[in-house]
Amino acid sequence: MKPKILITRAVFPDVIQRLENFFEVDSNPADKIYSEAELIEKCRDKVGVFANPADRISASLMQACPQLKAVCNMAVGYNNIDVAAATKAGIKVTNTPDVLNQTTADFAWALLMATARRVTESEHFLRAGKWEKWTYDGFLGADVYGSTLGIIGMGRIGQAIARRSMGFDMKVVYHNRSQLTPAQEAHANHAQYQSREQVLKEADHIVLVLPYSSAVHHYIGAAEIARMKPSATLINIARGGIVDDAALIAALKRGQIAAAGLDVFENEPAFNPEFLTCTNVVLTPHIASASEPTRRAMANCAADNLIAALSGQTPPNWLNPESAQ
Ligand code: GLV
Repeated sequence: MKPKILITRAVFPDVIQRLENFFEVDSNPADKIYSEAELIEKCRDKVGVFANPADRISASLMQACPQLKAVCNMAVGYNNIDVAAATKAGIKVTNTPDVLNQTTADFAWALLMATARRVTESEHFLRAGKWEKWTYDGFLGADVYGSTLGIIGMGRIGQAIARRSMGFDMKVVYHNRSQLTPAQEAHANHAQYQSREQVLKEADHIVLVLPYSSAVHHYIGAAEIARMKPSATLINIARGGIVDDAALIAALKRGQIAAAGLDVFENEPAFNPEFLTCTNVVLTPHIASASEPTRRAMANCAADNLIAALSGQTPPNWLNPESAQ
């Protein structure tokens, strides 16, 4: 008998077929969003879970499902999984790093450009039939070329974002848990390591790309926004909860910063409806890694991890090797 696994949400059919060669698969082609109680019920007889960043894989789920051996997330972020509880329970946890670096870096730039140059705001104006004449001061935005880019969270995606700034002749300042090596900094458009406060103060455009943990909840709140230039833009492609959304809305409404571009939100897919009343914000539904090849690579990467984890091999992206002890 094949080991049983759960694929929590809809995913590419060929990836499901691949997994069916190894496992008895409980898949979810209707893409129903399971409540935590439903997820626990579904996981009771499973040894592996192919998870999605919206699934909460909690300590209580793991306690209720003692036969669980592996949880493989189809995402680079894994704050939806209680990794400490998994380690204690001997459950392997994996993510999908690297395969999404370039696509996600591209999207950070898409949001930055759209935000700085007011692309969606002016498109809405045009679509609403309000465009009657060209004006010298219509939709004046911020320059990107020659400006200073601030990156908070300088991992692989942050570095890929920095490299793209060479074409815009930008200065790059960054903050990270630890400073990059001189060679990495040189490769990342000679990025200069600074305190968070200095990055906030100096940058014209700030991109957040740090992983979420409770330690960085509301890492960018009213006090941090107050340090930014009034002309600055703030881009969040990291995770909801890193920015205090209510504080950001207040700042956008009073023009304390120029604009924001957000792909992630507190409590998504719900989000603070006040964002819809701000004209100076570009909103996208958590799609930074959403290109066909990249999402396919992420799905196959999660499948590789699950197959390895449940066949006694070392999963390529094992986050908690201590779980083996
Ligand atoms: C998406 O948000 C991811 O973490 O891969």
